[in-house]
Amino acid sequence: MKTASKPTKAIGELAAYLIDPNIESDHEVNIIDRIHEVLSELATVSGFDGEEGWQHDMQTSSGMAISVNEAARCLLDYRRTGQFFRGLHAAIWEAKRLFPGEPIKVLYAGCGPYAPFLTMIAPQFSPGEVLFSLIEINGGSLEKAEMLVEEFGLQDYLLDSFLADATLFQVPNAKSYHILFTETMDTALEREPMVPILLNLLPQLRSEVLVVPRNVTVEGVFFSQEQLPNGIDILWELTTNIPGHSIGIVMDMAEALETYLDLEEKDGIFHELQCELPAPAFRDFFALYTTVEVWEGIFLYKNESDITDLRVRNLKDLPPCDYINFEYLLGEDLELMFGVS
Ligand SMILES: C[S@@+](CC[C@H](N)C(=O)[O-])C[C@H]1O[C@@H](n2cnc3c(N)ncnc32)[C@H](O)[C@@H]1O
Repeated sequence: MKTASKPTKAIGELAAYLIDPNIESDHEVNIIDRIHEVLSELATVSGFDGEEGWQHDMQTSSGMAISVNEAARCLLDYRRTGQFFRGLHAAIWEAKRLFPGEPIKVLYAGCGPYAPFLTMIAPQFSPGEVLFSLIEINGGSLEKAEMLVEEFGLQDYLLDSFLADATLFQVPNAKSYHILFTETMDTALEREPMVPILLNLLPQLRSEVLVVPRNVTVEGVFFSQEQLPNGIDILWELTTNIPGHSIGIVMDMAEALETYLDLEEKDGIFHELQCELPAPAFRDFFALYTTVEVWEGIFLYKNESDITDLRVRNLKDLPPCDYINFEYLLGEDLELMFGVS
């Protein structure tokens, strides 16, 4: 194993605490705050100030690429960062088991300015064990990520870095990657382009490629006014469990990807579904619960992170109807739309 430079050692040792699946949440927050201090000082990007250009999101033909600052702040979505760290760490060990003797190659799409799932994960392995290629659409973010790799002395872990749109990019030597890692999503898969990124990259990669996260599902749940007499705020409290009337999973990303990739003529309708509405007494509010399966046994449930934040709509004055219809269209504006009929 190569001798680590000082900051690599600091970030590697701090990040190693996150491997523990039973880490106390206060400890996790503290560790990630300390990692943020190291990364923000070296990258000179904190996520809260800096150049004017770091504040602008970028509209693309397939969703929105968030700004340098917002991408930096993702690190401070503590539970998300902890679970994705543990998920990728476990996936690398699984890949080592499946492909013994090969250095595990991770294609990291959407790395942001800290490339945290390279800078925190790489020091847990030697460069003979794991190698990363970065794809990032935002030049400001990629420049900082490359700078951090240098500052941390992690160059031996970096195979390639591409300033490119991962929804369109043709990956050189695509079949050589063992893991595809991307956290380019917002809740209910709205706004950010994880779906079009996976649709572009998956067909290029080997069929056994391990994908982190494994899946994202969205459940639909109706509530009556009587169940929420004081309004919807209670639904954000992690400890409350108001059952509502679930209509089940209304979008299963992994299933929809498989179906869409198999279509001979791709029509831009990634997913559509019609469900029966519950009895009228339950039709006052409708909520979308997002769950991310990062890796086996490693989940992010509703409200545990920004990317699984609850979405609730007041359904006042619905016309007479029997069904709720869902549609997720590919294009500039990504959102799971719904209407009644
Ligand atoms: C949610 S941030 C995640 C940053 C970092 N990986 C993390 O998890 O903290 C998503 C990143 O993906 C990048 N991104 C969004 N759309 C992209 C695209 N089409 N191609 C490449 N990168 C993209 C954004 O610029 C942003 O840096």
